[in-house]
Amino acid sequence: IQVLKGNNDLSKLVLKTSTSSCEIYIHGAHITSFKTNSVEHLFMSEKSGFQDMKAIRGGVPLIWPQFGNGKIQTHGFARNCDWEIHKALVDEKTQSVQIEFLLRNNEYSEKVWNCNITSGKETINNFHTIYRVTLHPDFLDLEFDVKNTSTSPSSNDNILEFQLAFHTYYQISNIENVYVLGLDGREYIDKMNGHKITKEVNDKVQISNETDRVYLNVVPTQSIGKNYQPLQLIDNGSKTSITLTYDYQSMPDVVVWNPWIEKSKKMEDFGDNEYQNMICIEIGTINTPVKLSPNQSFQTKHSILPSNKSSL
Ligand code: BG6
Repeated sequence: IQVLKGNNDLSKLVLKTSTSSCEIYIHGAHITSFKTNSVEHLFMSEKSGFQDMKAIRGGVPLIWPQFGNGKIQTHGFARNCDWEIHKALVDEKTQSVQIEFLLRNNEYSEKVWNCNITSGKETINNFHTIYRVTLHPDFLDLEFDVKNTSTSPSSNDNILEFQLAFHTYYQISNIENVYVLGLDGREYIDKMNGHKITKEVNDKVQISNETDRVYLNVVPTQSIGKNYQPLQLIDNGSKTSITLTYDYQSMPDVVVWNPWIEKSKKMEDFGDNEYQNMICIEIGTINTPVKLSPNQSFQTKHSILPSNKSSL
């Protein structure tokens, strides 16, 4: 594990195992690179800003405590804050490297984010979050823990309510070469069509226009009477696949996003043609926010498992 200066002099951590590597900015605890056998799996925009209080474009933005628009800034503040490095660990047995980041309520969160109140008395959200990134020789584990650290006796006034998503941008050979498996038969909120609830009828989900969907309740397919198909990104151009596993009880939703031509042009920190080389597949809890009473905790885990190059 090394600490280096990254873009715009922001500090980044570089994690390495015998066959893999990972880079994480302290700003947003934002993963900007994940390689196995020297192959990069994450997309980073060449136009990304690396500025205080702004999100990095690409990699794995951590979306918390709000997804999309709402009371606070779009996609929450976790991706815009500097996190504390809490622990670093090397495990000789599994040959993995782990880093733990910590974020507590701070001056900034206290200014922008208050509790849902029932008694008319406004209270701040007290929280303790841990983001644990573990780099294995051939995959990446992302774990996120939240505790409501409020000590107020009146628990109704201190419910910590949040959404969460790992907003991962995958690097692909070209959008026309890729499809996503594991979404067949699911309902999704189609943000491109007035938030209409639509049923996915394709076993291979391909993207050929602006796409912004929240797939709901993506639990293993046995439960809807089909054979189990894990969530997978297949790239026929690079002949690779990435399997995404996650704790579906705590994170049942999956977002699929690609801005396509017109939206790309409007985004100032994204190249006009970059939509061809990325797809976001975001695991999270979006449709049903989590609610924690004082002292209650939430834990979740998501893993990104790239295939060997020869497996397709
Ligand atoms: C996706 C949302 O998760 O993130 C899209 O579903 C949004 O609606 C996209 O446009 C990018 O958001 P941002 O805030 O990083 O530009």
